Amino acid sequence: MSTAATRPQRGDELELTIDSLAYGGAGVARHDGYVVFVSGALPGDRVRAVVSKRKRAYAEARATAILAPGPDRIEPVADHPGAPWQVLAYERQLEVKQAQVHDALTRLGHLEGFDLEPIVPAAETWRYRNKLEYSFGTGPDGELQCGFHAPGRWDEIVPIADCLLGSEASNRARDQIVGWCREQGLTAYDRRSGEGVLRNLVVREGRRTGALQVRLVTTAAPLDRESLGAAGHGLEGLLWTRSDSPAETTQGGETELVAGVDRFTEIVGSMSFAISPTAFFQTNTEMAERLYALATEYAAPTGLERVFDLYCGIGTIGMLISPRVAEVWGLELIEEAIADAIANARANEVDNARFFAGDVRLALRELNERAGRPDLLVVDPPRPGLSQKVVRRVIEAGPSTIVYVSCNPTTLAPNAAQLAEGGYRLVRVRPVDMFPQTPHIECVAELRRG
Ligand SMILES: C[S@@+](CC[C@H](N)C(=O)[O-])C[C@H]1O[C@@H](n2cnc3c(N)ncnc32)[C@H](O)[C@@H]1O
Repeated sequence: MSTAATRPQRGDELELTIDSLAYGGAGVARHDGYVVFVSGALPGDRVRAVVSKRKRAYAEARATAILAPGPDRIEPVADHPGAPWQVLAYERQLEVKQAQVHDALTRLGHLEGFDLEPIVPAAETWRYRNKLEYSFGTGPDGELQCGFHAPGRWDEIVPIADCLLGSEASNRARDQIVGWCREQGLTAYDRRSGEGVLRNLVVREGRRTGALQVRLVTTAAPLDRESLGAAGHGLEGLLWTRSDSPAETTQGGETELVAGVDRFTEIVGSMSFAISPTAFFQTNTEMAERLYALATEYAAPTGLERVFDLYCGIGTIGMLISPRVAEVWGLELIEEAIADAIANARANEVDNARFFAGDVRLALRELNERAGRPDLLVVDPPRPGLSQKVVRRVIEAGPSTIVYVSCNPTTLAPNAAQLAEGGYRLVRVRPVDMFPQTPHIECVAELRRG
C-alpha cells in the first residue's frame, strides 16, 4: 500500500525497474506501490530517474541514467528527440503497438468479439516523414542552432545535422535556408528575453513529386525579403510566417509567399493533391496510401453508396474512394483545406464528391438533411477523437457501415464502445505503423450496424 509519506516528491531522484510501456511511450515502474511513468525508459531497464510531476495516483519522471539495460534495448543510431523508440528493436515496436491497441479496446472500451488484424509494418523505418518542424535555438557559444527540443525542455535544442526521419533532399532544403539565416546574422527568438527573430522552420516534401517547400517562422521583425527569396532557389515554394504568439507553435500568424508557389503537391494512389500550408496532410505518404487502401477495403463499397467523409482535410479519403461509390460528401473545419479539396477534386476529374467547411459537431445534422442518410460514414478525427455528442450524431445519421481512422486507440476505444451501445458492432481493427521509432499509433476500425 502506498502512503503519503512514501510518495516521491518533485525533483526526487529514484532508482526504478521498468515493468512495461504505457500508451504514449513512457515506461511504467512502481515505487513502494506508487506508479511512476518514466520517459526514456524501456521494459526491464533499471534506471535512475528524476520526478518531474507528482499527482495523487501517480508520478511522472525522466530517466537520467540507464543503470542496467533491459533485454529489448538496442543502441540508438542518432541523437534525435523525434525518435524516442529507436532504442527498441523495430519488431518489438510493432508488438508493443499491436498490444496497446488490444489493451485500449478491451480494457478501456470493454469491447470483445472483434478481429484485431496484425499491424501493417512501415515500408521505411527511417527517412519516412514528408514534413519536419524544426525549432531554432542558441548554442553554448552563442551560435545559431536548428533542431528539435530536448525531451521535456522548451529552452534546449538538440541541433540536427542530418535528420534521419526526413529524406536527404529535405535535409538539404533545411540547410539551404538555415545557411541564409546565418549569413544574415539572424538569431533565435528567446522566449525569456523576447530577443531574437527565428522561431521555426517547416520543411515539407512531396515524396512522389520531389517538390520541396520551406516555411520560415519568425517574430514580426522585418527580414530582407528579396534576399530570402533568392535563397529559396530550387524550392517549389518558400513561405514566411510572422507570429508574435507566445506559444511554441507553427500554426497561426501571417503567412506570405516569398518564392515559388504556396501549395505543394503530393501523389497518393492514382491522384495528385495540392496542399495548403495550413491544411492537414498525413506525414508518411507511403503509409498513408496503405492506410487509405485499408479504409477502402474495410468499407467494401459496392458502387451504390452515399459516403460521408468527416474530418476530411484536403479530401484524400473521399476522393480515393470516389471511383467505387455513388457520391461523397466531405466535411472539414479548415476552410483552406476545403478549398484544396474542391480544387483537387476538379484536378483529378472527380465529379461525384462535394466538400463543405464546417464543424462536424454542428454541421453533421445539416449535412444529413441536405445529402440524405449515408450508407458509409468515414471518420478521421484528431487525437481527442469524437465527443459523445458527435458519436450521438453519427448514430442518428444511421450509416450501415462506419470506418473509423484513428490516430489514438485510447479515444477510439470509448468512441467504439458508445457506437456499440448505439447498435454498431466492432467487426475488425488493424493498426498501421505510420510512425516508426515513435510511440504513435494509427489504426483503422470497421463497424457495422446490427
Ligand atoms: C487526422 S486529420 C484527417 C484529415 C484527412 N482525413 C486526411 O487523411 O488527410 C483530422 C482533420 O480534422 C479536422 N478537424 C478538427 N476538428 C474538426 C471539427 N470539429 N470539425 C471538422 N473538422 C475538424 C482537422 O482540421 C484535420 O484536417
